[in-house]
Amino acid sequence: MDRLLVVGGRPLVGSVRISGAKNSALKLQAAALLAEGRSVIRNVPRIQDCGTMAEVLDHLGAAVAWDGDTFVVDARDVRPRETPYELVSRMRASILVLGPLLARFGEAHVAMPGGCNIGSRKIDLHLRGLERMGATFHQEHGVLHAKANRLHGAVINLDYPSVGATENVMMAGVAARGTTVIENAAREPELADLAAFLTAMGARIHGIGTPTIEIEGVDGFRPVEHRVIPDRIEAGTFAIAACATRGRVVLEGARADHLDLVLSKLAEVGADILTTGDGLAISMDRRPRAVDLVTLPYPGFPTDLQPQMMALLAAADGTSIVTENVFESRFMFVDELNRMGADIRTEGHHAVIRGVERLSAAPVRALDIRAGAAMVIAALSADGVSVVEDMYHVDRGYEDLEGKLAGLGASVRRERALEPTRAGA
Ligand code: UD1
Repeated sequence: MDRLLVVGGRPLVGSVRISGAKNSALKLQAAALLAEGRSVIRNVPRIQDCGTMAEVLDHLGAAVAWDGDTFVVDARDVRPRETPYELVSRMRASILVLGPLLARFGEAHVAMPGGCNIGSRKIDLHLRGLERMGATFHQEHGVLHAKANRLHGAVINLDYPSVGATENVMMAGVAARGTTVIENAAREPELADLAAFLTAMGARIHGIGTPTIEIEGVDGFRPVEHRVIPDRIEAGTFAIAACATRGRVVLEGARADHLDLVLSKLAEVGADILTTGDGLAISMDRRPRAVDLVTLPYPGFPTDLQPQMMALLAAADGTSIVTENVFESRFMFVDELNRMGADIRTEGHHAVIRGVERLSAAPVRALDIRAGAAMVIAALSADGVSVVEDMYHVDRGYEDLEGKLAGLGASVRRERALEPTRAGA
């Protein structure tokens, strides 16, 4: 497994270009399955997860190609083959092919995802929503088989504004007979990007960005060209890293309107924030102040920036309380931060962070994408040389993280894992 060597204590200074949003690009890749033709998606981050989604599409019979950050997919010859566990276990978002395949073929076969490092993540809301539209499911040998002679519109009230369930239902609803209404829908900016993509394909969707989405089903979708929105989580990660190292960073292409609460929390911590023509400038020249924060669905504070904020607050002046409301066990990385001298206690979904003067370098592990980013931030601000193991988690969601950090003056070096040698060889 690759590891990252990080020399701590250097401020990040300079400009960094924010890549396309992982959590949007993945859904657009899946949505391209709806059109019998060649769609072009620009500004797709070159990360492991988008590569895995490309493999899923290829497996289903699509012709896929990359040209830099442009992803081209011709879905003409797609068939509703089974998406195997090998791909779904690498990336849960593979289940997002369910909606588009049901919509186009009236059937889909997807291996059931297992648990993951941030808690047991269920798909019951996806399935209940699709069932209300006429789909039936049965599970055999770990594979979910879905069928629907013709999907029909329905009123679907989500118990929780799940991002994935809203997306799967929306991608099925665009081709259903009649009108589908999603109540208590997710409002994340990535959903608006998916709706824009589907609308360009010919779908009729209203109410995006509000809790009630209305979708009028249509027949036939045309392939499209589309540019993915910037990644607000990557932008937030660099903003937090700038603060943690008392640096000055320009986030080129970042959208302040997608980061409202994050920026106001960073301002509370002590950062100076300016919107520039094409992004944001963030700087901090003091020890962070302690703040309390609560993660919630958008427009609340994003759970995907919670670990990075904890790394920042670990060295704050005072005690912070962080409450995680989205995932049931997203504090597992706390033990790693404590190994770097942090003083964090967790109880249920609350964490009490007593700020220490400075973190001290240590060998630590990336436990998932965002926890890995948090460890890198902690290492950048710590005293000494840290080693972050298991960087493959981080590679799933961040495009060239160490290249971008090096461009900002960080001293980081990747050590590639040696290929395992065969016994006796
Ligand atoms: C997406 C993002 C992820 C982000 C999350 C919350 C992608 C690829 N991933 O994940 O980075 O952290 O939104 O902003 O876009 N739940 C159920 N039943 C369901 C579905 C969800 O109980 O059927 C629960 C989950 O266990 C979790 C919570 O709802 O506790 C949020 O999940 P959801 O909003 O669906 O997140 P994802 O779409 O999986």
